[in-house]
Amino acid sequence: MAGHLLRAAYAVSIMRSMRIWMLTLAAPLVMGAPVYHGEVRGILENRCVSCHRAGEIGPMPLGTYAEVRPWAKALRQAVSRGTMPPWHADRAKSVTFHNDRSLTALERATLVAWVDAGAPEGTPSAMPPKAPSTGGWRLGKPDLVVRIPKFKVPDQGTIEYTFLVTPTDLPEAKWIAAAEWKIDQRSVVHHINAFVRPKGSSYVSDAPAGQFFVATKASRAARRPDEREADRRELLVGYEPGYWPMAWGEGRAKLLPKGADIVFEMHYTANGRTAEDSSELGLYFAKEAPRERVLTITPADSAFAIPPGADNFASSTGATLKRDLTLLSMQPHMHLRGKSYRIAARYPDGRVENLIDVPRYDFNWQTTYFLAEPKRLPKGTVLECVAHFDNSPNNRFNPDPKQTVRWGDQSWEEMNIGFMEVVFPAGVDPDVVTLSGTTRPGGPAAAGR
Ligand code: HEC
Repeated sequence: MAGHLLRAAYAVSIMRSMRIWMLTLAAPLVMGAPVYHGEVRGILENRCVSCHRAGEIGPMPLGTYAEVRPWAKALRQAVSRGTMPPWHADRAKSVTFHNDRSLTALERATLVAWVDAGAPEGTPSAMPPKAPSTGGWRLGKPDLVVRIPKFKVPDQGTIEYTFLVTPTDLPEAKWIAAAEWKIDQRSVVHHINAFVRPKGSSYVSDAPAGQFFVATKASRAARRPDEREADRRELLVGYEPGYWPMAWGEGRAKLLPKGADIVFEMHYTANGRTAEDSSELGLYFAKEAPRERVLTITPADSAFAIPPGADNFASSTGATLKRDLTLLSMQPHMHLRGKSYRIAARYPDGRVENLIDVPRYDFNWQTTYFLAEPKRLPKGTVLECVAHFDNSPNNRFNPDPKQTVRWGDQSWEEMNIGFMEVVFPAGVDPDVVTLSGTTRPGGPAAAGR
């Protein structure tokens, strides 16, 4: 269902951009410079307004001519520099992504030409502006909404990761076709992860149900010697800057086993004013048993120590496939010293294929990159994740180039995690990969992001 909707929306957007394309070709001949009520408005509606509208993350709305006009110069600069729409994967060195937000060369040229012509309005058409839906769920009405009770965020200070265990108490196992966050106070919610914790898991097993809880490193890292990751916890869905809900696709779902808990890991950050957050997670159940199961794997390296001033420090991790799998999405994760990230597939025949290259990593945009065509990978393939960190004064985000930097939750500490969603037939054993990379106590097993 949600998949259908998304696919339909995608098709419409392709059709729209084709129309824009045709208009643009005709424009210079027929009308001279582009005008807002010609091709410009459609580009902005397709590429900008989803974030640039009331209640969204863009700092100003760009939904009408009056709203856009004062921003024309800034808009020209942002699109010609490529900073807007935000997109950080290098197209030439990555596979193509379903959720690629970047402008085509023609769209960019049209916007620049429009500003250079004085940002003319043109003649308003009768067509009403695309109705922005605010505040609602993008994927439709969820089957189950799990609300995090009000959390008081202080005006200053460091706030430790906070946990909340929510028993699901559903009479049977459920397949989740999609999940979506509705974030209440975006200015203080740095990120929230929702994990599925099967019954009997040792993950934060000392946390009382239904109460905010600061878990110790030991409790977060707890694992019985015989306990497999798939039986311990799985990342269901995370919210972070740049988040966009996506269904996993027709016939695919994540498993919420009978008796499982949802464990929320919240990272609130103080922003100078006290706030109360009560965010929600919406779950969409599959209407029928899925053909394929989706699983998030989280290879990580936590044994690094980045020396003071190092400007290109490398850290690698990875996963070896125990069976044939299909790769659905990738999300590189580092903190403020993150410089670049690359994930490649090393095939059993020795061939290496670049899957994603993020040359200028930006901590503010933790994008999940959804492959336009999910990639089939044979058993024995190694997914190699290579992070580079810049701990020099040249990194404008660097909080302190004099520190030796190690693994840790807070943004002045570091992480290297390559979140990936993989797919395999729904009935098979979920123990599908061997994770490589060095870990140490308090490392990735204890980590969210
Ligand atoms: C995925 C969300 C998203 C999309 C899509 C997006 N923006 Fe933005 N935009 C932001 C955010 C968040 C900021 C403020 C933080 C920043 O600059 O990164 C911003 C900032 C800007 C600014 C800078 C404002 C200033 O203070 O100078 C301009 C201009 C801008 N956007 C234009 C655009 C245009 C034009 C498009 C479409 C072609 C677009 N944006 C698409 C999220 C988005």
